[in-house]
Amino acid sequence: MYKAKAYSATSATSPLASSTIARRDPTENDVHIEILYCGICHSDLHQARNEWSGVMPTVYPFVPGHEIVGRVAKVGSAVTKFKPGDLGAVGCMVDSDRTCPECRAGLEQFCPNVTLTYNFPDKHLGGVTYGGYSDSIVVDQRFVLRVPSNLNLAGAAPLLCAGITTYSPMRHWGVTRGKKVGVVGLGGLGHMAVKIAHALAAHVVVFTTSPHKKEDARRLGADEVVISRNADEMQKHAGSFDFILDAVSADHDINAYINLLHRDGNLTLVGAPEKPHAVSAFGLIMGRRSLSGSMIGGIAETQEMLDFCGKHNLTADVEVIPMQKVNEAFERLLKSDVKYRFSIDMASLKSE
Ligand SMILES: NC(=O)c1ccc[n+]([C@@H]2O[C@H](COP(=O)([O-])OP(=O)(O)OC[C@H]3O[C@@H](n4cnc5c(N)ncnc54)[C@H](OP(=O)(O)O)[C@@H]3O)[C@@H](O)[C@H]2O)c1
Ligand SMILES: [Zn+2]
Ligand SMILES: [Zn+2]
Repeated sequence: MYKAKAYSATSATSPLASSTIARRDPTENDVHIEILYCGICHSDLHQARNEWSGVMPTVYPFVPGHEIVGRVAKVGSAVTKFKPGDLGAVGCMVDSDRTCPECRAGLEQFCPNVTLTYNFPDKHLGGVTYGGYSDSIVVDQRFVLRVPSNLNLAGAAPLLCAGITTYSPMRHWGVTRGKKVGVVGLGGLGHMAVKIAHALAAHVVVFTTSPHKKEDARRLGADEVVISRNADEMQKHAGSFDFILDAVSADHDINAYINLLHRDGNLTLVGAPEKPHAVSAFGLIMGRRSLSGSMIGGIAETQEMLDFCGKHNLTADVEVIPMQKVNEAFERLLKSDVKYRFSIDMASLKSE
């Protein structure tokens, strides 16, 4: 065991503050990564403030961060996938049982025994896992991803959650050339969804509540932009979408989007607001439309997404911040005041 530097919250209402946490020494299959960048996902904020208390209550102290890119410093004796000096990346999961039907299908995120990167029982040290707002992390090689060498590292970190969470449902629901695809909410997930859907050659329509994001949406790859609070603009797209991805972090009316789907169209929720949605049965009945959810993606698919982003040179648009600005960044995230992901430069932890 060794002590790592980290930023942690001690309660749902306390700010993140400098602390030290215990990490295990690498066992034979482990990779020890010195973290270079960690993205700030809205899930970090939901979890830090215990907004998901009904589903996954937060255990304090809590260390967020599941968009991790770093440099491999040490590897265990059985590690074949990485050597010291390589880049390594870690997303939302650090382990699973590897034997259940979900794991065998490459869908480790649905494994009943999955270990998420933070706030999940730590099989090695007891207590809970601690995320990437830290100078280092130790993870089994099977859950460490390769980062294409052409990608900017600060911008690549958010691919580990925002990238895979948007890539996976688009692949699952058959987003391909010419499909009409909606993206609701131009935040961290939403802006990656736009880039990926554009790279898949879909016709991309962004729904935003923020008129000032219109120009950016087009620059990021949107073919059309709709201000979602304008009922006339919404109505023009009624019954026309093959697929809509909803990446909104707060309470909003999803029926408005169900009505925009074509026959057999699908609305997938990836945004996870605190309160449940109200759904009108009629919107789904009329047109045999479907409503579903999606959670990150499996390890093999995460690697596929990283390689896809490498090929298309896709990274998140990031504002790089020092760790000391993390509480300010959380407040700005709540106001949708970031273009379009914060990425923490972990070199800033050295001064703590
Ligand atoms: N399913 C999964 O596996 C998974 C993975 C990661 C994250 N998530 C969840 O996905 C959600 C989005 O995460 P993120 O990191 O992308 O968050 P984010 O950067 O804060 O983006 C959320 C966006 O939602 C829109 N929005 C915010 N408040 C709104 C409101 N009151 N009404 C309508 N739209 C509103 C804003 O877009 P506009 O300004 O364009 O309207 C905002 O930029 C979070 O709930 C997060 O926990 C789920
Ligand atoms: Zn996330
Ligand atoms: Zn499993």
